[in-house]
Amino acid sequence: MEQPATDCSTETRRLIESDFAHLWHPFTAMRRWRGGEPIVIEHGEGFELFDTEGRGYIDGFSSLWCNVHGHRVPEIDNAVRDQLGRIAHATMLGYATVPAIELAARIAGVSPVVEHENAKVFYSDAGATAVELALKMAIGHHYYNGRGERDTFVSLEGAYHGDTTGGVSVGYSEVLHKPFGSMRFRCAKAPAPDVARDRRRDSVDGWPSADGELRDAVRDQALAALECTLDEVGGRCAGVIIEPLMQGAAGMIEHPDGYLQGVERLARERGVLLIVDEVATGFARTGGMFACDVEGVRADIVCMGKGISGGYLPLAATVCSPEIARSFDGEPGEERTLFHGHTYTGNPLACAAGIASFDLIQQRGIVEHANTIGGLMEREIAGGLSDHPHVGDVRRRGVMIGIELVQGRQAWVAFERSARVGRSVCEAITRSGAMVRPLGDVLVLNPAPAMDKATCGRLIRLVVDGINSFDFDHAAR
Ligand SMILES: Cc1ncc(COP(=O)(O)O)c(C=O)c1O
Repeated sequence: MEQPATDCSTETRRLIESDFAHLWHPFTAMRRWRGGEPIVIEHGEGFELFDTEGRGYIDGFSSLWCNVHGHRVPEIDNAVRDQLGRIAHATMLGYATVPAIELAARIAGVSPVVEHENAKVFYSDAGATAVELALKMAIGHHYYNGRGERDTFVSLEGAYHGDTTGGVSVGYSEVLHKPFGSMRFRCAKAPAPDVARDRRRDSVDGWPSADGELRDAVRDQALAALECTLDEVGGRCAGVIIEPLMQGAAGMIEHPDGYLQGVERLARERGVLLIVDEVATGFARTGGMFACDVEGVRADIVCMGKGISGGYLPLAATVCSPEIARSFDGEPGEERTLFHGHTYTGNPLACAAGIASFDLIQQRGIVEHANTIGGLMEREIAGGLSDHPHVGDVRRRGVMIGIELVQGRQAWVAFERSARVGRSVCEAITRSGAMVRPLGDVLVLNPAPAMDKATCGRLIRLVVDGINSFDFDHAAR
């Protein structure tokens, strides 16, 4: 049996040995995992996580971008306990449950969907399944309206939409999905409006924000390219799917202002469905309740996940306009039905957590608070890192922040991939007490939107100090 390298208690050692023997972790190179020093989380409190050795870590990426109010929040705990006192699970096939009904009404009320007052909410249990459903809703909508030839989606290069087959088709990444290329269905790609990519190409130094002219030019070029792609796909286009404002897993690619509105305009001009994947950006993370709200955009279908349950339990939703829902609204026997569902669709415990979280977001003004702490983090990063020779760029929307580490800042020389500098920096910061994760050499900060200012300040200090004290020259060798 493989032994943990770490110096730890007997109980932690037993758990890690058992993990090495039986567990397969998501997105994890398992051989490297077994050679490392795993942290075993034992409990959480507020915005901190504690391991089996009693060490605390600030949750700097909100447990994979989903935790909204912290851990063990009394209001959400009580809502789940209360629901547990009634029933943990009952199917939605042929029945309804109280929390599923209550949460759907709340979600529809704020969804950035066309005619949202009458929007329909279809639950599932992961961001990827929300996307899968959105694609099926779009294809089915066209099918039932005599447009079965519309079988191709348009998405952005680098987009990530989850790991199910549909998600991989519209969000294909050579690094992540290469072996599964043959499983994909048709999708045309348009270039993302990536300001950092153009600054890299032109060796433009000087963050946090590249100048407005460059941003406008990047936006206009990307919209023109999207227009060309839409023209090429023409009458086969089933819909455009995008992550609004910030493409998270692609490396925190922040879109210039007006791009989202431009996509909406192009979709409307061509009568193409607009599908917005708010799985990562929704629930107070990017400047509004949803990213679409920041630019006043209304989509035909919106995918939600992660923060929908406050980050407590697996829950997702695909919300569509009444027009899309009507396409599946046939007479009995006509079988115009969306034959899709999962055993745990609309799980009552998860919905109860979602209602409590939703109410807290509204009662506590979490959208405004998230903007305040986002600004605070940006200022602290600028103050502590603006002259750092290895910080090439900092990008932010709300509480979603990407800090891009580079070998040479002026010429934008990237580190060798094999040097895994981003990972090493994050491991050093985690050891100092703040959990952060990289996407390649982009260090990702994405704390809970409700994180208090003091904890947020501590988090940023640990990140800034960690980067400032890191020996980049040694790591790059
Ligand atoms: C934009 C986006 N869509 C979909 C997903 C997939 O969500 P899940 O991991 O819950 O399947 C993610 C996950 O990070 C995401 O960021």
